[in-house]
Amino acid sequence: MTTGTSPDLSALIARMSLPEKIGQLTMVTGHWAVTGPRADPLSLATFRDGSAGCILNLWSPEAMREAQRAASEESRLGIPLIIGFDVVHGHRTVFPIPLGEAASFDPALWQETAAAAAKEAAADGISLTFAPMLDVARDPRWGRICEGPGEDPYVGQVFAVAKVKGFQGRSLDDPARLAATAKHIGAYGATLAGRDYASADLSESDMAEVQLPAFASAVAAGVAAIMPSFNDIAGLPSTANAALLTGLLRQRWGFDGIIVSDYNAVAELIVHGVAADHAEAAALALRAGVDIDMMGGSYSRGLAEALVRGLVTLPEIDAAVLRVLRLKERLGLFADPYRGIGPDAEPARVAHRGLARRAAAAAMVLLKNEAKALPLSSTGGAIAVIGPLAQAADDMLGPWSGAGRAEDCVTLLDGIRAAFPGRTILYEPASGFDSAKATMALAREAEAIVFCGGETRRMSGEANSRGEPDLALAQRRLATKLIATGKPVIAIICCGRPIVLPPVLVDKAAAILVAWFGGSEAGTALGDVLNGHSEPGGRLPVTWPAAIGQIPIYYARRRSGRPADARQHYTSKYLDIPVEPQFAFGHGLGYAPLRFANAQVDRATIGPGQSLTVSVDVVNDGNREGATVAMLYVQDPVASLARPIMLLKRFEKISVAPGAVATVHFTLTTDVFAFLGIDMERIVESGRIDLLIGGRAVEEELLRLTIEVTGGRSHIAAASVRAAVNR
Ligand code: BGC
Repeated sequence: MTTGTSPDLSALIARMSLPEKIGQLTMVTGHWAVTGPRADPLSLATFRDGSAGCILNLWSPEAMREAQRAASEESRLGIPLIIGFDVVHGHRTVFPIPLGEAASFDPALWQETAAAAAKEAAADGISLTFAPMLDVARDPRWGRICEGPGEDPYVGQVFAVAKVKGFQGRSLDDPARLAATAKHIGAYGATLAGRDYASADLSESDMAEVQLPAFASAVAAGVAAIMPSFNDIAGLPSTANAALLTGLLRQRWGFDGIIVSDYNAVAELIVHGVAADHAEAAALALRAGVDIDMMGGSYSRGLAEALVRGLVTLPEIDAAVLRVLRLKERLGLFADPYRGIGPDAEPARVAHRGLARRAAAAAMVLLKNEAKALPLSSTGGAIAVIGPLAQAADDMLGPWSGAGRAEDCVTLLDGIRAAFPGRTILYEPASGFDSAKATMALAREAEAIVFCGGETRRMSGEANSRGEPDLALAQRRLATKLIATGKPVIAIICCGRPIVLPPVLVDKAAAILVAWFGGSEAGTALGDVLNGHSEPGGRLPVTWPAAIGQIPIYYARRRSGRPADARQHYTSKYLDIPVEPQFAFGHGLGYAPLRFANAQVDRATIGPGQSLTVSVDVVNDGNREGATVAMLYVQDPVASLARPIMLLKRFEKISVAPGAVATVHFTLTTDVFAFLGIDMERIVESGRIDLLIGGRAVEEELLRLTIEVTGGRSHIAAASVRAAVNR
């Protein structure tokens, strides 16, 4: 095929042999050679003979040119490759992990970092990213909680839209953008006991109201691809779930992009125990709606056989091939297989360092700040920097490092050194170990101690579930000794999930700052926050447990008939641990004393087709500029189904000048009060609704407005009872 033209795709399919068709549905992987990522000779041969049309894990201009040349110039039909990669939180410039980004509650920033990552990745020849990851997760034992937006479905929705817009831009043929993949549809975040790849078994309403909304938003925003999850729901693996992938995604939501399996997930249908061989696995996946088999080899080994056995039809194969070719066309790959490859990405990368610095500071969550321990003064006695994460450049990359390099990362120690030129910074390389005498000598010599602890990057992410997500014993011991010096201890916690913190830190540290895995500029951003140049901009997008036994824990729980009451025995509580989390969803302190006041609503009732506006003042009583996140939650006190105590429906990040008042406005229509009723229809019910406005999800702290919803169903309507009986 000559480059520079767009082919008639149906005519192209008519010219394809069956192996060439199956090749378009087959994704192989690149590998790491001594010189960097490469397509091996075997893959290049499959591109030339048309038996593979997609590849992942390949980047760099040279490798891309070689691979695209094999496919688009040296194969019979000259069809270019889709080249996919996990550009999850940055490419060469690495941004904070998604859970950290979510903490910034800043959709414009979410979009900006995705656009920057797309630009760098596209210049390396990538056309498809396997991101955003949109799995709502409420169990910090699950290592992949770090890759997504946290526990809240509404945050997930806003995150989805921002990321899809950022990666894809206005048009997929923009050579500086990527096709995005919303992943992993199928309640991956709800796997049993937080164990990766395990079954999920959840209610229809949890699926519809918690797990799926972010995916619906990604589809509405025009996401190009979707990836089903590895796990099964009640025995049906998502890769074979026709009701989900075809019924819901394509038919109800109108999704017209491609569905790409997860790595080896088609072949794993055999291991799950729902397919006897590759032919059955291939047939189940294709008929469910999976277009591309990523590394499972089931389509290449079993699809032709499935056709012979009558398990699939040729039109079904052709339909999948057409969707893949259409994406290649939308990406502009037929017109230019080398799209985007080439321009020197260096200037863009330099510009992205500033963004990475801003994003990392915006993600940091200040959990505690006793007696204004932070920010630290630019002058004063020595600061001892102690702990295993202080000089851990590689860990700053987080679990999906993209093309990021440890040597590009600013460590926490280096960031602190740069931020406090006027103070002596004491550091001892062996300071990760509590036994090191030298470490304690530094601690005693210092005026303040910055303890850098938490997890390493390989303790979070895929296959890294932890049964006991807490601080390692050695770190707990070290923290105890540091606190015992009597010096103020500022604890910096790097992590991919909320980890249960020891009482010695919760009670006695002067400050606790969650830094997640901050990316390329992790250290610089920490310096900015510690010296007060930047606000710690994050608020928790996930509830922080006080004890492991509380997990799963999240704010949008139901009240129960016997809400927890320590004075009453027969209530929903534990004998041995508290019910309340250590830090609530939305918790996070700033440096300025901001407060919410004067919540108002412009009408007392709202019916179908109407909207109302809620306003709230954010008052800055201090003498420095401050920022916070105004949250609006909805509480439905009486409904036909017991509703979560509160649900986040709007948020806005806002900065307020010293001594000033800023007003936030939220506009609502009745759809925010809708829920999945007993008869599995989305309904709005008439009656009282309370709007809770302020910061973190602590009912008593929020400002309350009461409104009346009219024109909806009655919560006690006989009709819904009848429908339920008849189901
Ligand atoms: C992960 C996906 C990822 C894929 C390709 C899988 O193991 O579950 O999230 O996109 O690998 O790297």
